[in-house]
Amino acid sequence: MANNTLTVTDNRTGTSYTLPIEHGTIRTMDLRQIKTGPEDFGLMGYDPAFTNTASCRSSVTYIDGDRGILRYRGYPIEVLAEHCSFLEVAYLLVWGELPTQAQMNDWVYQITHHTMVHETVKKLLEGFRYNAHPMGMFVSTVAALSTLYPEAKHVEDAEIRKHQMFRLIGKVPTIAAYCYRHSKGYPYVYPDNDLSYTGNFMNMLWRMMEPKYVANPVLERALDILFILHADHEQNCSANAMRSVGSALTDPYLTTAAAASALAGPLHGGANEAVLRMLDEIGSKQNVPAYIKRIKEGHSKLMGFGHRVYKNYDPRAKIIKWTAERVFEATGRNTKLDIALELERIALEDEYFVKRKLYPNVDFYSGIIYQAMGFLPEMFTVMFAIPRTAGWLAQWNEMLTDPEQKIARPRQVYTGEQERAFVPLEKRGAVATAR
Ligand code: SDX
Repeated sequence: MANNTLTVTDNRTGTSYTLPIEHGTIRTMDLRQIKTGPEDFGLMGYDPAFTNTASCRSSVTYIDGDRGILRYRGYPIEVLAEHCSFLEVAYLLVWGELPTQAQMNDWVYQITHHTMVHETVKKLLEGFRYNAHPMGMFVSTVAALSTLYPEAKHVEDAEIRKHQMFRLIGKVPTIAAYCYRHSKGYPYVYPDNDLSYTGNFMNMLWRMMEPKYVANPVLERALDILFILHADHEQNCSANAMRSVGSALTDPYLTTAAAASALAGPLHGGANEAVLRMLDEIGSKQNVPAYIKRIKEGHSKLMGFGHRVYKNYDPRAKIIKWTAERVFEATGRNTKLDIALELERIALEDEYFVKRKLYPNVDFYSGIIYQAMGFLPEMFTVMFAIPRTAGWLAQWNEMLTDPEQKIARPRQVYTGEQERAFVPLEKRGAVATAR
């Protein structure tokens, strides 16, 4: 049996320490014993942006960035995207196993019967300007649900947690659709319990005066696949926000709003919207080489490319690319796809991107599909947040039931002033640095 330990020598004292290695990690707390004397606080680890820090033990999602592997609860994303519905995958993420038919029937019933939102949500949305960004409306409205379900603050109660997870997974499509309808000035459409999760979402988005909405089955399935691909991605920025805020025992609505706020950033879930704006800016295939040149000169990043973990092709991007072709067979080819394909072709051959292991990520093609389906770029990150709510809740639920977890409170390396004498306002000279 290999000796799973690490022996380090502190050259300041000549003392050696042997630290246990478990799951390819050392406990950073084991560094605290390394001191130069009894007054010394002891060593900490310093890891800005947590590039090499495991914050938790999780069994939800596994990623192998070098081999381009993504599995939810051990099932390859390719298999789930081909054989499952999004709600089936949401069940898998939250509860850890694929549902039996009886479990699936109950799960679908519960989610379906929690799609309605309190009528007060409409009044809240009416307070937003017509051109308010849907992500700002979405985050605010999800947070506002906290005021409707005060029992949700009892996060230690498994049954209460389960009920809130039904509500959040059920209501986020309704909230998203209501945000879209508000921005278009259209009346809100109530959920239709006869429809699938994605079919109902399309109904609430696009039904106008027809008595019953009938979803295009190709688009309905494409959306379901996109939701599966976006459902979770281990300890990404927004999942970290979910775990950190949730560790304070904040209710799941405010916690989910915090996670959605992280997702809104252009380096995270906001990238899909940024990709479309980038493709609009490029304008044509002929302009791609000049744009690539600007990227290599450091003027901007190639949105939808690169990933903190994947140093190979994002497996989700491959499936999205396949899905895009199916969508365009139904909607007509989107010229932006041609620009995107040319951008990818050139980038994958260019040393700048190859050396940095920059490949298309999940956001590179998803926006093109959403636009072909009729969504405006402002809605793209909301489209990401809907399925990711299931992943955030799976991470949140796991964190709350992990005996090792407690309120997240990192340390710091202090680089500020040492103690200094206070100078009263009247005695502070003009030489003080202007702020
Ligand atoms: C998502 O974490 C997740 O799992 C997220 C996500 C999920 O499902 O939750 O997968 C979803 O957020 C996908 C990523 C979407 N974001 C984008 O497409 C925005 C563009 N991508 C980059 O901003 C960047 O690639 C990140 C933020 C995704 C990753 O950044 P890292 O890991 O911090 O990498 P880095 O910035 O250290 O880059 C290493 C080098 C740098 O160059 P040098 O300083 O070494 O010269 O690569 C360069 C970067 O400048 N680089 C890029 C680039 N991404 C990195 N150069 C041009 N274009 C890019 N897109």
